[in-house]
Amino acid sequence: MKNSLWENKNIIITGASSGIGEALLKALSTINCRIFTLDRSPKDPPKGVKAEIFPFLCDITKEDDLKKATSEILKKTDTIDYLFNNAGITAHGRFDKMDISVFRKTFDINFFGNIHLTLLLVEALKKARGMVMVTSTVSGLYGIPGRSAYSSSKSALHAVYESLRIELSEFGVRSIIFCPPYTRTALRTSGIDAQGNKLNEEQAKGKIKTPEEVATDMIKAAENPNSKLVIIDKSGFFVKWMRLLSPSLLERILFKKLRHDF
Ligand SMILES: NC(=O)c1ccc[n+]([C@@H]2O[C@H](COP(=O)([O-])OP(=O)(O)OC[C@H]3O[C@@H](n4cnc5c(N)ncnc54)[C@H](OP(=O)(O)O)[C@@H]3O)[C@@H](O)[C@H]2O)c1
Repeated sequence: MKNSLWENKNIIITGASSGIGEALLKALSTINCRIFTLDRSPKDPPKGVKAEIFPFLCDITKEDDLKKATSEILKKTDTIDYLFNNAGITAHGRFDKMDISVFRKTFDINFFGNIHLTLLLVEALKKARGMVMVTSTVSGLYGIPGRSAYSSSKSALHAVYESLRIELSEFGVRSIIFCPPYTRTALRTSGIDAQGNKLNEEQAKGKIKTPEEVATDMIKAAENPNSKLVIIDKSGFFVKWMRLLSPSLLERILFKKLRHDF
């Protein structure tokens, strides 16, 4: 980690109570900086760390929670250097069995919660010439079978953070869309199924990343002034290129590979 880029900076992390966000919080808390975390069930900050950590109880789908948390944060600082929009849920199920409430809930958290927070902090990001990173997914690069709500809620974010990047380049604000592959977290139990019930699925099979590995890559991406769409594994690069080179072949492969999922 390039410590000097993080020293004395103001950092916000959503979804820091679990998985990737928790690993990111742990990594950054070794630096002398200020970290504000937003979660529905915030954990006590790690002990004996260098960072000053301020946990906020905040459901990002609730306007009142978001306004209260951001106004408290903006009382402490008027500049935000790094905003990690990481909170999210997954939704699994076939499109033809999906209840519309599943799309609404998934978009409320992954899309609207995320962009509302960014809007509330945009002036502080401009003031700091800061960076905003959204945790998307490889499933945001193409509509993945059995994931129509999840894929669409994440790919919609890509357009927002691309527009924002172009517009706010005038103010030196950077925007990064970060797409981790399968990672060993609680996502498959914190998510919902086609009827909106709690998911209870096993971790994906095969070699999957740890949250610590992903957090390290997020930090590297944030440190690189040229980062835009960041993909960190073979499956992500495969989807990224195949969607342009041969979408028909990509769809056949996704059907075969993920048939059991839907
Ligand atoms: N794990 C993977 O394989 C994978 C792959 C690609 C992308 N991702 C993305 O990585 C991000 C982090 O997920 P994870 O894998 O670390 O899963 P996780 O362990 O389930 O963590 C999700 C985090 O999001 C927070 N969250 C959920 N709904 C929220 C809400 N309404 N308001 C505030 N916080 C909320 C949760 O905190 P509370 O429950 O305390 O609110 C939790 O801290 C997500 O955006 C996910 O889509 C994960």
